[in-house]
Amino acid sequence: MQQVNLGMIGGGTVGSGVFHALQLNGGLMASRIGVKVAVRKVAVKAFNEPRPYQIPRSLMTLDWQSVVNDPQVDIVTELVGGTGIARTMVLAALKLGKPVVTANKALLSAHGEELFAAAKKYGTNLYYEASVCGGIPIIKSLREGFVGNRIEALYGIVNGTCNYILTRMKLEGADFDAVLTDAQKQGYAETPPDLDIDGHDAAHKIGILASLAHGFWVNPKKIHVEGIRHVSALDIKFAGELGYTIKLLGIIKRIDDLRLTIDATKNKPARKSNIVNRKCKVQVSVYPTLVPNAHVLASVNHVFNAVFVRGDIVGDTLFYGRGAGKDATASAVLSDLADAALDLKSGCKQRVPPFVPHECAGAVMPIEDAVSQYFLRLNVVDRPGTLAKIAAIFGAAKIGISSVIQPEGHEGKSVPLIFMMHYATNGAVNGALKKISRLPVIKGKPVMIRVENFE
Ligand code: HSE
Repeated sequence: MQQVNLGMIGGGTVGSGVFHALQLNGGLMASRIGVKVAVRKVAVKAFNEPRPYQIPRSLMTLDWQSVVNDPQVDIVTELVGGTGIARTMVLAALKLGKPVVTANKALLSAHGEELFAAAKKYGTNLYYEASVCGGIPIIKSLREGFVGNRIEALYGIVNGTCNYILTRMKLEGADFDAVLTDAQKQGYAETPPDLDIDGHDAAHKIGILASLAHGFWVNPKKIHVEGIRHVSALDIKFAGELGYTIKLLGIIKRIDDLRLTIDATKNKPARKSNIVNRKCKVQVSVYPTLVPNAHVLASVNHVFNAVFVRGDIVGDTLFYGRGAGKDATASAVLSDLADAALDLKSGCKQRVPPFVPHECAGAVMPIEDAVSQYFLRLNVVDRPGTLAKIAAIFGAAKIGISSVIQPEGHEGKSVPLIFMMHYATNGAVNGALKKISRLPVIKGKPVMIRVENFE
C-alpha cells in the first residue's frame, strides 16, 4: 500500500491526541482510503511536557524546522496554536510545496488570506477542519456537502466554555463569577478566560464559517462581538420564565432579500423581493441570545457545540458534537490527513482548494443595521408615570413593545422592568436605550439581550 509520511509540529494535548488516534485507527483509515499515513517526526516544546498520550522519544525533536525540511516528510501538521511562530511554520511548509493541516482558528482568522494565497502559489493545500468546532465536520459540510446551496443563515453554539458556564448558571441559578471560578478550578475554563468568555474564540470560528459560506474573506474586525460577562443570573431567570434559554450564538445571516427597515404594521422585517443580489450583505456576529426553549439549540448543554445551517435548497440542518478536546479535535485532523493523503496520491493537490472566493462583492453588515427582537431589563423607580415615559421613547422611535412584565417580589428602591420588543434595528434600539438611560427614573445600566426566533 502507498504510504505518505507525516511531520507533526506540536505534540501537546492535540498533537499527542492525533498521534494516539493514528495509532488506534490509522490502519482502518488506510483500508478506507488506500494510503497509509505514517508519523515520521514530532516537533515538541519539551520532551517531558505534560501530554495525555505518550509519543515515543525516538520520534520527538525540539527542532520544528528539521520536521518541515525533512525530504521524507510529505504532509505537515501545525498543532502549536497562536498567530506568531505558527504562521512562520505553516508558511515554511507551504513554500516547500508540502500540504499543511492546522487546527489553528486564530491563525486563520488573522492570516487566512495570506496562507491560502501561499498554498495556491506553491501548488499545495491547507486543510483546517479542526479549526472550527473540533469534531463536528462543519468545514467539509459547508464547502462540499452544501456546495449547491446558498447559505441563508447559520447559528452556532461554537464555544464550549461559554456554553458550559451558561448551562450551569441556568441549572444552578448561580452568578457568572461563581461559575467561572469553579469552571477554571475544574479545567473547563482557561486562566485567563478572556478569549472564550469575551466571545473572541467564537468570533474566530464564525468568521471562518461566514467566509466559506459567503465567498469573501471576513475581516475579523468587522465582526460584532459580545461575550457573556454581563449575563446575570437574573436575566437567565427572567428569560426562563418567558420560555427562553440564553446561549452565546454566532450568527451569520444573508440579508440580500430582506428589508433593513421594519414593516410597522407587522412588526417584522418584510421580504422585499426574491431576486438574489450578488452584492449581498451578511450579518456576522457573536452575542448572547435568547433562544426559545422549543428550539433544538436551547437543549445543547454543557461543553457541547452545535451548528444550525439553513440552506436555500436543503432547508434546516443541525450538527452537534464536542467542539474541543484532544480526541474530538484529533478526529477532525485525521479527516484532513485523509484528504491530504488522497490528494497526494491522486497528484491533484488542490482538488478542493482551502478557500474559493465567490460572490466577492459581499460585505459584512454594520451591527446598527441588523434587525432583531430584544429582551430588555431596566431597573426603575416604582412610581406612577415611569412606564409611560419609557413607552413614549420607544413609540417615538417606532419600536413596538411585544410584552412588559414587572415581576412581583422585587419591591425596593428600584424594581426590574422586563420588555420583550418587536423587530427593530440595533441602531434604533440602542438610540432609544440611550435616551431611556437618561431618565431620572432609571437606575443602573439597561440590559439588552437580543432574541432569535429563527424565522
Ligand atoms: N476554548 C474553546 C471552547 C475550544 O471553549 O470551545 C477551542 O476553540
